[in-house]
Amino acid sequence: MKPNLSFLLAAIASLPMLAFSRVLERRYSSTLEPVPGFSPNPTNVPMYLYKPTSFKAGNPVILVVHYCGGSAQAMFGNLPDLPTLADERGILLIYPDSPHLEDHCWDVSSKETLTHDGGGDSTSLKNMVDYAQATYKASEELVYVMGISSGAMMTQVLSATYPNVFRAAAAYSGVPAGCFASPTGLVDAWNPDCAQGKIIKTAKEWGDIARAMYPQYSSRRPRMQLFHGTADDVLLYQDHLEAVKQWSDVLQVDLETPTSVRDNWPSQGLTTTEYGNELVRVVGNGIGHNFPANMTLTLDFFGIL
Ligand SMILES: *[C@@H]1O[C@H](CO)[C@@H](O)[C@H](O)[C@H]1NC(C)=O
Repeated sequence: MKPNLSFLLAAIASLPMLAFSRVLERRYSSTLEPVPGFSPNPTNVPMYLYKPTSFKAGNPVILVVHYCGGSAQAMFGNLPDLPTLADERGILLIYPDSPHLEDHCWDVSSKETLTHDGGGDSTSLKNMVDYAQATYKASEELVYVMGISSGAMMTQVLSATYPNVFRAAAAYSGVPAGCFASPTGLVDAWNPDCAQGKIIKTAKEWGDIARAMYPQYSSRRPRMQLFHGTADDVLLYQDHLEAVKQWSDVLQVDLETPTSVRDNWPSQGLTTTEYGNELVRVVGNGIGHNFPANMTLTLDFFGIL
């Protein structure tokens, strides 16, 4: 049956602009493209790039790391606000694509990936930032990383292995750096104890684990924004509490004295707690593993909105 055209037009005209932009495909200034020339790439991670037409030398760069079963393309499509904001602000976006074909997760378990310049996935991802700086003249200073789930684990691993590279990080539904470590050094291994929130340590112990990934380093560390739902049944909420301990110790903030606590901010059901400018937690009350990512909030935290 043919829909009545005037009814359709009336329905479209009555939609608010926001819904309208969701109905139609987003229009971006550029497209996500593979970067075939990228090297050195020790674990053969495909690199994809979104370079808006507004990008200029010296502009910020964000590494955007996908979830298990995801891909560069899927992550690009999953965060439609991000290329829009990148267009507005001239930000370069790097989307790595997991080389682990059986589960499309990231290696956050091997000794190599948990070591500065250890030659694992973390080194390949950091090299993408180097490549973007050398090839496109992205900023050496305004460098950020964000990720969801396995990508949030990698975000915390990169913050520990390459604290010299990243100025700030945002992790949606992840675990602390080192929590997924494989006792036998396996690459891309699932760690059920960590996933189920059974690995409990003191803040100092977690901080030591992060610092041990780059023991020679003693300078500035990436600021950290951590998101987690209390009803997460894939990576339990306890993992968030452990991550908060880790980064409070690394960033030397006092968990007893948050500088602000806001209920129902930035939206209903979320609680945002800030520890100075260094550490921010956003807890989703009753939210599961699929925490809705807020790119405005994250780019604002990065200081590039
Ligand atoms: C995202 O966060 C901003 C604050 O940075 C807030 O104004 C906005 O409402 C949030 N969006 C959603 C969908 O919650």
